[in-house]
Amino acid sequence: MNGLIEAIGVSRTYDLGETRICALKEINLSIARGEFVAITGPSGSGKSTLLHLIGSIEQPTTGAILIDGENTGRMSQRALSRLRLHKIGFVFQHFYLLATLTAYENIELPMKEARLSRALRRDRVQELLVAVGLEDRGRHRPHQLSGGEQQRVAIARALANDPPTILADEPTGELDTRTGSAIIDLLTKINQEYGKTIVVVSHDLEIARRAKRVIELRDGAIVDVLY
Ligand SMILES: Nc1ncnc2c1ncn2[C@@H]1O[C@H](COP(=O)(O)OP(=O)(O)O)[C@@H](O)[C@H]1O
Ligand SMILES: [Mg+2]
Repeated sequence: MNGLIEAIGVSRTYDLGETRICALKEINLSIARGEFVAITGPSGSGKSTLLHLIGSIEQPTTGAILIDGENTGRMSQRALSRLRLHKIGFVFQHFYLLATLTAYENIELPMKEARLSRALRRDRVQELLVAVGLEDRGRHRPHQLSGGEQQRVAIARALANDPPTILADEPTGELDTRTGSAIIDLLTKINQEYGKTIVVVSHDLEIARRAKRVIELRDGAIVDVLY
């Protein structure tokens, strides 16, 4: 195995009082640079947990996650923050834009964290607004945007520091079929034209059809891999 993202014998348990929940059991997975992978499975099967582990938002209970050959379990907090800022962009079902900031400022935020100069930030935000089809919406705040537009802003924000990988958890879950379809088109473009590796968790059959590989989870284990 020599993927961009690797899970080696990954398990994740949660202890709630007396009960132990095994959210993931001994997952082995290798995702190559430039792949478009869909993760499907019923509610509670461990999809979000797997995405959070890949994105280093959470750590496995046992096993290892390797990003670009580096074991994230051995990284310092500082190195992990850097990894999340530069190597991974996250897109969520509920968008999670900051309500008080404009679309422009939401997209700019990760660049500020990365200490990019104002001039570079401006050029890059403009470029991203065009890329997601919102060049005339930069001054809008989230409540002045439709759901689909908010998700486009969230995707632009995920791309802010040009990470090689985009992780998306049910990105069309809040959207009607047509708007969702346009978001899938955008993710496909980001994969094909920008060469980003994309891992999408979804129930959406259209996403599964569009992905190069579909990984099906059930009860925390991979039950099927479809190419
Ligand atoms: N922070 C947590 N604390 C306790 N249990 C959790 C936590 N996160 C997830 N779980 C449990 O782990 C299992 C997998 O959850 P999740 O990864 O969210 O599934 P999915 O995204 O496929 O719906 C579920 O049984 C869920 O209740
Ligand atoms: Mg989930």
